[in-house]
Amino acid sequence: MAEVVIVETADAAGEIVADEIQRLLEAKPDAVLGLATGSTPLTTWKALARRALDLSAVRGFALDEYVGLEPGHPESYRSVITREVVVPLGLNPDLVRVPADRGPVETAGEDYERAILEAGGVDLQILGIGSTGHIGFNEPGSSLASLTRVKTLTERTRLDNARYFSSPEEVPMHCVTQGLGTILRAGHLVLLAFGEGKAEAIAGAVEGPVTASLPGSAIQLHPRVTVVVDEAAASSLRFADYYRHAWNNRLRVSGGQA
Ligand code: PGA
Repeated sequence: MAEVVIVETADAAGEIVADEIQRLLEAKPDAVLGLATGSTPLTTWKALARRALDLSAVRGFALDEYVGLEPGHPESYRSVITREVVVPLGLNPDLVRVPADRGPVETAGEDYERAILEAGGVDLQILGIGSTGHIGFNEPGSSLASLTRVKTLTERTRLDNARYFSSPEEVPMHCVTQGLGTILRAGHLVLLAFGEGKAEAIAGAVEGPVTASLPGSAIQLHPRVTVVVDEAAASSLRFADYYRHAWNNRLRVSGGQA
């Protein structure tokens, strides 16, 4: 079972996750972070930026990227990661990779997998979850063993992301995303979710059966997972009282409590 932390606000969640990242970086200044885009991780990046740590040795791998946006498009995940993570946190842009950033889409998957392995693997992976239950852009049906590859986005995800574009048709149809198997190789998974719209996906991911139909449920296969949610996103969790009890009485042991 994942360690589930239920907080009052997204800002409180950001502080908890920033603490976790800071602890990692104190032990390993050149740690490898798995970076997520979207609205969910923003409070984490802001909390980390406020701490003004020296993050210049940190290496980063984004979870996913759209296919088909022109280079420099403000909503490409390369641009988003640069704007929301690299610049405010003072990361070295040369140490931050985004899928398909160094070659054709056809070989992007293999290339990205190799780069992650050569970096020694991701130490801590930040994750959001989509209303379809996706993590990264692994939409329902994604193999639990999948690696970085091209995927077709669901219409639901395209609509969810239309708020960043001037029209829903502009949202790309395809992406390159780390697979569920890629994500499961990271040392520590930190999944964040806020708001009622995520309650069902969170309940399925944390407590539902492990199934490709709800890709977030793959986290149950990982030995070290922290899920940080607000009350609304926690509202469908069956064991919420136990999670609160466990967090309020936590014993810090290395490796966490899966
Ligand atoms: P959001 O997206 O953080 O913008 O809600 C999460 C996701 O689609 O993975």
